[in-house]
Amino acid sequence: MASRNCSNFFPGLTCSLFLLLGLLSFPAEAAIKKYQFDVQVNNVSRLCHAKPIVTVNGRFPGPTIYVREGDRVLVNVTNHAQYNMSIHWHGLKQYRNGWADGPAYITQCPIKTGNSYTYDFNVTGQRGTLWWHAHIFWLRATVYGAIVIMPKPGTPFPFPQPNREEVILLGEWWHTDVEEVEKQGQKMGLPPNMSDAHTINGKPGPLFPCSEKPLNPTYIINSAPFYLDTFAMEVESGKTYLLRIINAALNDELFFAIAGHNFTVVEVDAVYTKPFTTEAILIAPGQTTNVLVQANQKPGRYFMAARPFNDAPIPVDNKTATGILQYKGIPNSLLPTLAQLPASNDSEFALNYNKKLRSLNSPKFPADVPQKVDRKLFYTIGFGKDSCPTCVNGTRLLATLNNISFVMPQTALLQAHYFNLKGVFKADFPDKPPKPFNYTGAPLTASLGTSRATRLSKIAFNSTIELVLQDTNLLTVESHPFHLHGYNFFVVGTGIGNFDPVKDPANYNLVDPIERNTAAVPTGGWTAIRFRADNPGIHPSFFNFSDLHTHTHTKKKKKLTVYFDCIGVWFMHCHLELHTGWGLKTAFAVEDGPGPDQSVLPPPTDLPPC
Ligand code: C2O
Repeated sequence: MASRNCSNFFPGLTCSLFLLLGLLSFPAEAAIKKYQFDVQVNNVSRLCHAKPIVTVNGRFPGPTIYVREGDRVLVNVTNHAQYNMSIHWHGLKQYRNGWADGPAYITQCPIKTGNSYTYDFNVTGQRGTLWWHAHIFWLRATVYGAIVIMPKPGTPFPFPQPNREEVILLGEWWHTDVEEVEKQGQKMGLPPNMSDAHTINGKPGPLFPCSEKPLNPTYIINSAPFYLDTFAMEVESGKTYLLRIINAALNDELFFAIAGHNFTVVEVDAVYTKPFTTEAILIAPGQTTNVLVQANQKPGRYFMAARPFNDAPIPVDNKTATGILQYKGIPNSLLPTLAQLPASNDSEFALNYNKKLRSLNSPKFPADVPQKVDRKLFYTIGFGKDSCPTCVNGTRLLATLNNISFVMPQTALLQAHYFNLKGVFKADFPDKPPKPFNYTGAPLTASLGTSRATRLSKIAFNSTIELVLQDTNLLTVESHPFHLHGYNFFVVGTGIGNFDPVKDPANYNLVDPIERNTAAVPTGGWTAIRFRADNPGIHPSFFNFSDLHTHTHTKKKKKLTVYFDCIGVWFMHCHLELHTGWGLKTAFAVEDGPGPDQSVLPPPTDLPPC
C-alpha cells in the first residue's frame, strides 16, 4: 500500500495513515499525502546578483509533490511573505472541488500574510506530470514546483519502464524584483522588461555570465571550471531515463533538446500519448511533456538547452538556458557538446510537432472525444488600448477575448456565486464576437471598441462544448497558450488564418486528438477544442470517488445543496502572464447536475476570507 512505504520511496515526504478514516471513506488503495508549504522570502543569487525572492520552504524551484493516482492530498500553505497569495495545482481536475483550485479572486480570496489554508483534493483519473504555482500577479516567477502522479500500485506505464526519472523545470529569471517589474509595466502601460535569463531547474547555465563562478577552487580540474549555476544530470550508459519537463516560464514558449540524444514523447499534461521520436520538443507555458531518453551515445558531456520559440512580429528573446547531461565517470574537464535547437521563428517545426501529438487512445486509456456538440463558442483573441493619462503613450495596453478585457473582481467569483452575492460578475459573456471581420488580415488599429468587464459564460451541466479560439491582428498577431482550469480538453483542429466554419470541421481529428489542459493558438491562426462540462458533476467513470468533505460536512452539505443554486467557476486564460495581466481571460460558470453527487462541494471552513 502506498501509504506504508511512501516515505522510503520519496524521502522528505510526510505520510499519514489515518487508518480509521481511510477505511471508512476511501477505496482500499488510496493514501493521504500531507505537505506543509511555508511561503517565505529568501535571498537567492543568480548571475552574480543576490535578491530576495518568494519561495516555498526556502527552495527554488519549490518542492516536488509525489502522489499516486487515487490519493487524497492535503497541502497546508502558510503565508509568511508580505504578499497575499494563493497556489494553483495546474492541471488537476478538482472534481466538484473548485475550492482547492487556487486562482486568486476566481475560486478563493488570497491567503493573507500570517494566515494558512489547506488545499484538500483527490487525484482521480490522472497520472503523469503536472505542476503547481502561485496564482496571483507575477509571484509564480519563483513560486512553482512539480507534481508527480505515479500510476496506481501494480499498474505499469504503457511504455518501457525507465531506469530512473528526473524533473526538469524550465523558468525565467529577472535581476530585479519581479513584482516591481510587473508594476512598472502597468504604470507605463507597456510590456515590462524581458527576463534576464531562462533557467533549467532554477539555473541559467554557462552561456550566461557568472554561472561559471567556481563553487570551490579545488573543483577546478585541469583548469576547467565547475559550474555553480548549472543543472547537471548524471546518466549511465545503456540506461533509459524519463524526463518530466515542465514549462514554468512566465512569457515564453520554449524549445528543449539534448545534444546527440533523441526524445520519445510519451505523455503531455498527465495524458499518455502515442509515442513518437523527436530531436527537440516545443512546450508552452503551463504545459508538461514526459519524454524517454536513452543514454546510448559515446560517454561524454552533452548540453541540454532551452530557448524561446516566437514567430510573431514582436521583439524576440533569444537567450538560451543550458544544463549538462553527464555520463558517469566522465570528468568535468571535458567540454560539453552543443545542442541544436530549431530556429527561434521556426513555425514549420511548431506545426509539425503539434501534429504528431496524439492521445494514446488504447482500450485502457481511451480518448473520449465528444462527437456531438451541444454548444459552439467562437472567441477572438486580440489586443486593445485603454486611455491612461499617466502612461507613456497616454494609453495602456489591454488583451481581449471577443474584444472584452476581463476585470479581476474584489471577491472570489466562486464564493460570490455560492453565497449569492450580487453584482460581482455577469454571466453574459458572448458566444461569438459582436461583428465578424477579417480576423487575420492587415493589422487593425483604429476604433477597436474594447470594453472592460467581469463577464462569464454560463454552461449547462454535462453539455458538450466546442470552443474555437481565433487569433486576430488587433494591433498584432501572436501565439497564445490557453489554459482551462477544472478540465482537460481535446484539441480537435488547428490552422493558420481565419477559421472556416464550413470547411475546417471536416478535417477535425475526432479519433485520437491530443487531450490536455493548455494548448497554444498559433500566431495568426486558430485552435478548436472540445470538452464535456461534467465538473462539478461527478465523472461517470468515478463512481467510487470518495466525497472528501463528507466526514465533516454531511449535515451541512445536505442543507446547502437544497438552498443554493450552485455552479463551478472554472478560469480560462492565456498562460503568458503578461497577457493574463492585460485581461486575456474569462471563466466558465458550469451549473450543477441534478444528481446528489453532481454539485459543488460545500466550501472548507478555512477558506480565506476576502
Ligand atoms: Cu497554470 Cu490559471 O494557471
